[in-house]
Amino acid sequence: MSGPNNLLNGKVIPVAVAPMMAYTDRHFRYFLRLLSPSALLYTEMITAQALKHADPARWLAFSEQEHPVALQLGGSEPADLAHAATLGAKFGYDEINLNCGCPSDRVQSGRFGACLMAEPDRVAESVRAMRDAVAVPVTVKCRIGIEPRAGGGDDYAFLTDFVGRIAAAGCSVFVVHARKAVLGGLSPKENREIPPLQYGVVARLQEDYPDCAFVLNGGIRTVAEVRRHLDAFDGVMLGREVCENPYILAELHQAVVDPSWEPPTRESVIEAYAEYVEARLAEGYPLRSMTRHVLGLYAGMPRSRSWRRFLSEQGGAGVTGPQILLDSLRIVRAA
Ligand SMILES: Cc1cc2nc3c(=O)[nH]c(=O)nc-3n(C[C@H](O)[C@H](O)[C@H](O)COP(=O)(O)O)c2cc1C
Repeated sequence: MSGPNNLLNGKVIPVAVAPMMAYTDRHFRYFLRLLSPSALLYTEMITAQALKHADPARWLAFSEQEHPVALQLGGSEPADLAHAATLGAKFGYDEINLNCGCPSDRVQSGRFGACLMAEPDRVAESVRAMRDAVAVPVTVKCRIGIEPRAGGGDDYAFLTDFVGRIAAAGCSVFVVHARKAVLGGLSPKENREIPPLQYGVVARLQEDYPDCAFVLNGGIRTVAEVRRHLDAFDGVMLGREVCENPYILAELHQAVVDPSWEPPTRESVIEAYAEYVEARLAEGYPLRSMTRHVLGLYAGMPRSRSWRRFLSEQGGAGVTGPQILLDSLRIVRAA
């Protein structure tokens, strides 16, 4: 097996933003790219089924500036996934990722997400089919285990059997949310909070599969934590922290990629995003679907709450133009 095939210049990108339904749409990704030239940005999960029937551009269109950007797919039929991966590669995505970590009931009834960890051969077959179909890397995002599961025995043996079979199918990059998924018993939100984080299990995988790269995910919140984890892992993935405090991406690019880089001011990010918003409004995207993504930008800064309130209230008051973003800057400037 060759070394990790993800991503730029043969190296794993150190910081990734997690796939998050209802968050990581094209607008959020564009906004995040204004904050970090390097972070790998994932789409929301898009089902292979949706891409089979609907106009794919509706789901897959994105802006050139978003690169590097990875398409996350949900599904469990190898042929459908291969078709979806082909579309993703055609649209220009830099990586195709298969979701084997989402615990929601809706996803389980479609027989994909975390419950696929119980079907490693199906996942391996899907990975093979996708790899045969596209030249870009095919990666897998999973948990450290599922509960309940059949078969008894050791949890780590279950996990390493899963990883081993998928690696043998040609996947060399695994994003691992370092918690088990409790299927049936907990809501998706609880499943991101209650099962304990076990980073050591992912470190053990990294040791046992030195030819693969493991990207650590789950509960990572600060620049210091990222630095520490990058001593042991090729990459880390952050989800909720980026939604609440997107500016951390600029701090991370400077801290772990390019110390000589000057982070953009928040104000310049808003100005650049306002131009983007204007272009998308002309294509019919609603203003609020774009302004909602910036609300965390001033997290922890003076007048952050008034700024958020201004944007939320004006956005709901029939304001239709990007000027609202520029106007909002008066509030934070006054601080
Ligand atoms: C609102 C929301 C939506 C999510 N949607 C997805 C998804 O579509 N696919 C996926 O693999 N994980 C999804 N996740 C899980 C995240 O990708 C990530 O694994 C999890 O939030 C743990 O990382 P964090 O602690 O840094 O947030 C979602 C998480 C959140 C908060």
